[in-house]
Amino acid sequence: MKKIDVYLTQSLISDDLFLKDRNVVVVDVLRATTTITVALANGAKEIIPAESVTIAARISKGLGKALLCGERNGKVIEGFALGNSPLEYKSETIKDKPLIFSTTNGTISITKSRLAKSCVLASFINLTKAVDHIKSIEGDIVILCSGKLNTFCIEDAVCAGVIIDRLINEEPGKYEINDSAYACVRLGCVLAKKTGRLSSEKILSMFGESEHGKYLSELGFGEDLKICAGIDSYPYLPVYYNGTIKLPEIIEIETNEKSHMKKIKISK
Ligand code: MLT
Repeated sequence: MKKIDVYLTQSLISDDLFLKDRNVVVVDVLRATTTITVALANGAKEIIPAESVTIAARISKGLGKALLCGERNGKVIEGFALGNSPLEYKSETIKDKPLIFSTTNGTISITKSRLAKSCVLASFINLTKAVDHIKSIEGDIVILCSGKLNTFCIEDAVCAGVIIDRLINEEPGKYEINDSAYACVRLGCVLAKKTGRLSSEKILSMFGESEHGKYLSELGFGEDLKICAGIDSYPYLPVYYNGTIKLPEIIEIETNEKSHMKKIKISK
């Protein structure tokens, strides 16, 4: 049996050691894990998550051509190049560039996973990628919902619930889940009205009722919500590895290149 534990807000993770050697899936539907997925899909070289603005600024001193990106309270951080709207992360702006990224909740969850055995980022836009990833790995899973300002938020819980519901249906008898995971599954099913499969329209209307969805709409980010609701619209799986977030295909190429260089050095 594979165990799936859901944590409903990142504040439940006391320190980095809590997730050491565990397989983590970080969820921040509105909007960090969605925006990071869009940025990598549109060609960003890598994304370095920073838990605070100070740390982001410090990293940027050592990485001259990186773009400083992120938000506080939904708005772009003063002096930063980009905020946290997926619409800002167009190919022409970010292609082949490293991004340093700091957000109110999402990048805290991600950096708390720095000692994890594996860490990927999930949202509705890469749902099936996340499901397939969990199916493919050995061992227990933690789904870490970022939440909002240390509290529960519905959109992350529903996303976790839909992922787990898919796993339970596709691989019956294989998963054991904690009560938070069970609550997420039930929540997803209630919103879907029976089967646990949500449509993008239902997700969008759930955003419209949610605290953060309403807040983002008030700030004028209504179009972002449509992107964040698009089930499987960006089939890419960001991986947090060695302090940076990249697509697995890129990590594989780089690892192969490194081992090739090593072989050349040894044979010289
Ligand atoms: C966060 O990380 O707190 C969020 O992504 C907030 C936002 O919507 O910008």
